[in-house]
Amino acid sequence: MAIRDILIVPDPRLKQVSRPVEGPVTDEHRALMDDMLETMYEAPGIGLAAIQIGVPLRIIVMDLQENDEKNPRYFVNPEIIDTIEDTQPYEEGCLSVPDIFEEVERPAECTVRYLDYQGEPVEERAEDLFAICIQHEMDHLEGTLFIDHLSRLKRQRAIDKVRKAKRLKAANAA
Ligand code: NI
Repeated sequence: MAIRDILIVPDPRLKQVSRPVEGPVTDEHRALMDDMLETMYEAPGIGLAAIQIGVPLRIIVMDLQENDEKNPRYFVNPEIIDTIEDTQPYEEGCLSVPDIFEEVERPAECTVRYLDYQGEPVEERAEDLFAICIQHEMDHLEGTLFIDHLSRLKRQRAIDKVRKAKRLKAANAA
């Protein structure tokens, strides 16, 4: 396993639409998921899409760390097949938009269909944080960031903040 670099806004690669995994889930995909999980734990974060480490494949890893125990989840080619109308606001963040937290409103529950780590098909109902997180991560597969759900002004402010922090960090490291 290896820790990979996480792309940060406004990296144009984050706007890419990821392509599906064709054919079976292979050891190569599992190695990628292992790297993604390690990178996510190191960050630390609760979800990561492959495009966030520059790989435009429809693969997501997640660990909501309920009960302080590790509970990694893997999603290959996930699809949301059903959502309820009720929405809920949640203050979201993203490893590609560091230190920015803003409220986003999303459907409160959804059903997701995907292939797991072994390539087995799964259909699962998502509620609460799981529902928010899977929708956030699946947005990444379409090149959409959570800040794209904000007003243009708020989005620009978030990107400027991230840029400024990056410059400061670079200056301090010099
Ligand atoms: Ni994100």
